Amino acid sequence: MRSSFVFFLYLLRGACSGSDGDPESLNLCIHMVVSHGFNLPEFLQRTTLNDVTIFYHDSNMASKMPRPDWLNSIAGQWHWKHIQNWADRNRRVITQGFTSAVQQFNRTGLLADSNIYEGWGCCTLFPNGTYRSSLTHKFNGKDFISLDLDKRVFVAAVSEAVLYKNQRCRDERDMDDITDYYRKVIIDRLNIFKHAPSVRIRKVPEVRIFEKQKAGSITVTCHVTGFYPRAVQVDWLDPDLHPVDGGVTDVLPNEDGTYQTRRSVTVPEEDVGKHTYSCVVLHSSVEHNITTVWVGESQIYRRAGVWISLAIFLLPTGFIFWRLCNRLCCELN
Ligand SMILES: *[C@@H]1O[C@H](CO)[C@@H](O)[C@H](O)[C@H]1NC(C)=O
Ligand SMILES: *[C@@H]1O[C@H](CO)[C@@H](O)[C@H](O)[C@H]1NC(C)=O
Ligand SMILES: *[C@@H]1O[C@H](CO)[C@@H](O)[C@H](O)[C@H]1NC(C)=O
Repeated sequence: MRSSFVFFLYLLRGACSGSDGDPESLNLCIHMVVSHGFNLPEFLQRTTLNDVTIFYHDSNMASKMPRPDWLNSIAGQWHWKHIQNWADRNRRVITQGFTSAVQQFNRTGLLADSNIYEGWGCCTLFPNGTYRSSLTHKFNGKDFISLDLDKRVFVAAVSEAVLYKNQRCRDERDMDDITDYYRKVIIDRLNIFKHAPSVRIRKVPEVRIFEKQKAGSITVTCHVTGFYPRAVQVDWLDPDLHPVDGGVTDVLPNEDGTYQTRRSVTVPEEDVGKHTYSCVVLHSSVEHNITTVWVGESQIYRRAGVWISLAIFLLPTGFIFWRLCNRLCCELN
């Protein structure tokens, strides 16, 4: 169970990174998975709004998730019914893609022991009021087919996908449904679902600095965690407040639905204590920024601490030696 959860986190990370660079943009995404050999349900579907799960269904569940209370308008009821009905349709379509991919990759001898087929459908609403929709199917993490909304066709990313692409394009009714969905339905849905109570909750990041000594330098890391939504900017500024190039890591999900990331800067040992470096975090949960200054004091204190410990250890030892010596000298006399 745990391994499949971690794998799912990995899937989430793979697809959505970069899609929500602007903290004010809204994302409605549908993730559909059919797999074999991954300890996952045969089929699963998750619909998320800015990474918050709105709808989940998998092949082990007897019924579909009931409509949430906040979705009580006529349009809201229609959309929920549509989501429930399309879960069955999605299962059929994604299973067809999986079967076709397995057959074709088996023919070319490129089939793995465990195989996974994913559909990623997303719609992003930007702050300037424009939308962007996309649908991509992936096989074992690589693009398989994608929807060209302007031309109303599917495009094959690899030769193994041509057969399935043709099969989809031949079904005119299906092409009409799918283009209507990504041009209209999903946009209406986004405008209704953006009022979901869970979407507006923002969590302020916690910032912690830690350091690690290497030969001749110290790596100072700014660890930022517990924030939501995902979009965040973390920079190190040098003493003149210029950004310092450092290692950036991906934004990773925590198990509680929040996110974490870190950024490091390498400071030469001779500069420690002379210059200050600031870790500046920008996040939509705080109006300005969270600035944490690192002055390398702890390093100085640590060094001082070593001398103090030595002194504390050496003083009594010296005293005992002195006493012993005194006594010995007395006895000798
Ligand atoms: C792959 O092809 C071989 C040979 O045609 C066949 O025996 C095997 O069942 C196929 N495997 C899958 C997973 O389809
Ligand atoms: C709206 O914003 C998006 C994302 O920043 C950008 O890609 C798009 O070109 C913008 N559209 C207009 C009409 O300004
Ligand atoms: C951070 O916020 C402070 C106070 O609002 C502001 O003076 C400073 O310019 C900000 N720094 C950055 C890098 O945005």
